[in-house]
Amino acid sequence: MASFIINGESVNVDAHPNTPLLWVVREHLKLTGTKFGCGVGQCGACTVHIDGAATYSCLTPVSTVEGREITTIEGLSGDGSHPLQRSWIAEQVPQCGYCQSGQIMRAADLLANNPQPNREEIIAHMSTNICRCGTYSRIIKAIERAAEEA
Ligand code: FES
Ligand code: FES
Repeated sequence: MASFIINGESVNVDAHPNTPLLWVVREHLKLTGTKFGCGVGQCGACTVHIDGAATYSCLTPVSTVEGREITTIEGLSGDGSHPLQRSWIAEQVPQCGYCQSGQIMRAADLLANNPQPNREEIIAHMSTNICRCGTYSRIIKAIERAAEEA
């Protein structure tokens, strides 16, 4: 049994300690906004926040989040009003959309720690997340817009 807080709610999950947090989030808790891309820490589709830090949930055994606070894309804001969610819409960032939850969660970590990042800092921070549709230029623009409007 693992106990932690996710999107502000305490949960107890009956899962083997080695189960990746990604599977617990998607299969046990049915929060399917977080995606499985590679499963080996190379794409960022599975990015969630653990105690505020963007983390690959595919590489995180559920036993390591005992008592910690997880945020998924569903919990980033109650109503989709996070500045990044608004700027993602304004810039029409997604193509297929598969990578985008992870991109937004990664970007949210950046702005939480560096509210006015320059372009180089944005590129460096987002380099952990792959978009097979090549939406990188719109991702950068959306982060710049969110930083300006924050
Ligand atoms: S699914 Fe976790 S990094 Fe690709
Ligand atoms: S929008 Fe398709 S993988 Fe990023």
